[in-house]
Amino acid sequence: MRHLLSPLDFSLQETEELLDLAHDIRINPDKYAHKCDGKKIATLFYEPSTRTRLSFEAAMMNMGGSVLGFSEASSSSVTKGETVGDTIKVVSNYADICAIRHPKEGAPRVAADYSGIPIVNAGDGGHEHPTQTLTDLMTIRELKGSLDGFTIGLCGDLKFGRTVHSLIHALVRNRDVKFVLISPRELRVPDYVREDLLEDNGMEYKEVERLEDVIESLDILYMTRVQKERFFSEDEYLRMKDYYILDKAKLDSAKSDMYVLHPLPRVNEISTDVDDDPRAKYFEQVHNGVFVRQAIILTLLNLV
Ligand code: NCD
Repeated sequence: MRHLLSPLDFSLQETEELLDLAHDIRINPDKYAHKCDGKKIATLFYEPSTRTRLSFEAAMMNMGGSVLGFSEASSSSVTKGETVGDTIKVVSNYADICAIRHPKEGAPRVAADYSGIPIVNAGDGGHEHPTQTLTDLMTIRELKGSLDGFTIGLCGDLKFGRTVHSLIHALVRNRDVKFVLISPRELRVPDYVREDLLEDNGMEYKEVERLEDVIESLDILYMTRVQKERFFSEDEYLRMKDYYILDKAKLDSAKSDMYVLHPLPRVNEISTDVDDDPRAKYFEQVHNGVFVRQAIILTLLNLV
């Protein structure tokens, strides 16, 4: 039985195959319409979500399956003191696969230890978010033609942003990818990302504070939201929240084929006047999220 807890749970080749499958689902949806007849996905969301939960549910429904679960911890037995391990042992009786989001880092891994069904990490605290990463990779591959040889700027909350951590995890395996880490000093990437991922893999990277200084060198700009829920102090959040605002004027100095991605939800960090720029691809990224999750479900259920 396989789980998806980190992007590294799929090798580089398996990742390419999964993205090929997602692409095929996108262009031939009917071929997959009954692949999951009679199957069920449980979505256990102990933290808020719009895209991730709904895209998992839509993915299962697109293939003839059905969904069960909860979207607030307060409506589950966790309020009575049940552990994640016990919850997942129980849920293994009701569903064939489970997507879990939890505020505690590592909770999906604990779930996997107790589970009788494949577990997908749908975001654990400030740690990882592998299904968003696969969506990001599919989008980059479509826009750039490959996952090798480009410069990516990651901008915003690089400390708490789990999508950033997982994307770096995945991309250090590709060839000739250069990283520009754009954040205030307080929100730089955690040391393990800098040391164990970027330095140990010999990646070319730099850390800067001003987006304006580097935007012209980028092929992809990955914007992120300041992760309000992970701050210890409200004042600190308020000081950081509008640190970066990408607007049309800033985009003027970017290349004509520099694409803007964002895992969403957006708060203020991309002004809405950017949305109709042809380089704004964050809503296309959302569109890919469903096909990627269909491909993940099929792969983990051995239905490919
Ligand atoms: C992200 C998350 O939950 O980490 N959202 C998502 O799943 N697309 C990003 C965020 O919340 O900022």
